[in-house]
Amino acid sequence: MPENTLTITDNRTNRTYTLPIEDGTVRSMDMRKIKTSDDDFGLMLYDPAFMNTASCRSSITFIDGDRGILEYRGYPIEVLAERCTFLEVAYLLLFGKLPNATELKGWISEITHHTMLHETTKRFMEGFRYDAHPMAMIVSTVAALSTVYPEAKNVQDPANRLFQIKRLIAKMPTMAAMSYRHSVGFPYVYPDNDLSYTENFMNMLWKMVEPKYAANPVLARALDVLFILHADHEQNCSTNAMRSVGSSMSDPYVALASAAAALSGPLHGGANEQVLKMLDEIGSKDNVAAYIQKVKDGHGKLMGFGHRVYKNYDPRAKIIKRTAEEVFKVTGRNPKLEIALELERIALEDDYFVSRKLYPNVDFYSGIIYQAMGFNPEFFTVLFAIPRTVGWLAQWDEMLRDTEQKIARPRQIYTGERKKKFLAIEERGG
Ligand code: CMC
Repeated sequence: MPENTLTITDNRTNRTYTLPIEDGTVRSMDMRKIKTSDDDFGLMLYDPAFMNTASCRSSITFIDGDRGILEYRGYPIEVLAERCTFLEVAYLLLFGKLPNATELKGWISEITHHTMLHETTKRFMEGFRYDAHPMAMIVSTVAALSTVYPEAKNVQDPANRLFQIKRLIAKMPTMAAMSYRHSVGFPYVYPDNDLSYTENFMNMLWKMVEPKYAANPVLARALDVLFILHADHEQNCSTNAMRSVGSSMSDPYVALASAAAALSGPLHGGANEQVLKMLDEIGSKDNVAAYIQKVKDGHGKLMGFGHRVYKNYDPRAKIIKRTAEEVFKVTGRNPKLEIALELERIALEDDYFVSRKLYPNVDFYSGIIYQAMGFNPEFFTVLFAIPRTVGWLAQWDEMLRDTEQKIARPRQIYTGERKKKFLAIEERGG
C-alpha cells in the first residue's frame, strides 16, 4: 500500500477504503465513495466555519500560525515591511515576483493614472447622509463602479481582469478619502499624480487651502508599512467572500463589495474600531484588571485579541508596535497606549488567555496609531480595506486561473421537517 494514503474502515458495512493523501490533505469528494448502499449519497464532511477545510490551492500567502510566520510569495513579512513600498508589495502579490526598477516605474505610473473617479461616482457619494458610516459608503460605492465599467463583466479575459485590478487599486484611496471628507463636510480633493500612493491618499484626506499638500514623510512611510501588513492574509472571511462571490463569474466590483462587507464586521476588520471603543470604555490603566475579569466572566471579548490561525504572536502586531513608536515621535504618544500595554501585559500573564492562545492581533495596535495620525475610529476599517483590495484581487485572479475551481457551493445537513401536509390559509387557525 502506498505510504501517502489513508485507510478508513466503515463500521456500518465493514468495508475498507484507501484514500490518497496529498499535501497533508484528503479530498472531500473521495469520502463520497464511502456508502452503505448504491443509492446512498455517500459520506460528507461537516465543517461549519471552515475550521479544517482547505478551499483552494494558493501560492500567494503562507501562514504558519503556530510559529507566528507570515510570508507573501515566500518573502517574510518583516523583510517586506522594512525594505519595500506598498505598491512594490502589491506587484509581488499580483504577479508572484518582485518588480525590477523598470517594472516598478511602469506599475506605479499605471496605478497613478487610474486614481480619478468618474464625476457621477463623486455625485453618487455626495448623496449619502452626512453621518453615513464610511465602510458602508465604500461597500456601496465599489459595487456602484460596476455600473461605470460594464466591460468588467468579461472576467474570463486575463487582460481585462488586470485592467479592472489596476482601476480598483488606484480608486480605493480616492473613494476612501471622499468618504472621510463627506463625513466632515469638506469639499472632495482630487488626486495629485506627483505624489506617492500613500502621500496622495493623505493629500486627498487632509489638503485644505494650501496649493500643494506636503505629507509628513514619517507618517506617509508608517501608513505605507501598515498597508503592506494588511495587503493579504490568505483565506480569511473577506477573501473567502471575494472568491465565493467571484466564483459565480460576477464582476470584480460587486465581488469586492461583498469582500469589503465581510471585512466590516467586528470579528474581522471592524475589530480595530472596536478596540478603540473598548479602550475608551476602560478609560484608565487602573480599570484594566476589572475589565479583563469581566471578559473572563463571559461578558464580551477582548477586541484585538485572538485569531483563528495565529496561536502564537501575530507577526504583524510586532511590526505595528515598532511603527507606533515612529509615529508617536511625530504625533506625540496616544494616551490610549498606556491602557493597551497594560491590557496586553495582564492578559499575557493570565491563564484564561494563555491556555486559549489568545494574543494581540493586527487590530490591537493599528487603531492606536491611526488615532494618533488623526483618523477617527469609524475610518479604521476603511484603512484596512484599501490595502486588502490587493489581496482580494490577487486571490480572485488566482481563483479564475485555477482549473480545479468551480462555483462555490457548500453542502448542508438538512435538519427541518419533510413531506408536510399543506393547509389552505383558512385551515391554519389564528
Ligand atoms: N476575548 C476573549 N475570549 C476570546 C477571544 C477574545 N478576543 N477570542 C477568542 N476567545 C475565546 C473564545 O470564547 C473561546 O473560549 P472557549 O473555548 O472557552 O469557548 C476560545 O477563546 C476560542 O475562540 P473561538 O471563538 O473558537 O476562536 P475563533 O477562531 O472562532 O475566533 C476570532 C477568532 C478572531 C473571531 C476571535 O478570537 C475574536 O472574536 N477576537 C476578537 C475580534 C478580533 O480581534 N478580530 C480581529 C481578528 S485579526 C484581523 C483579521 O484578520 O480580521
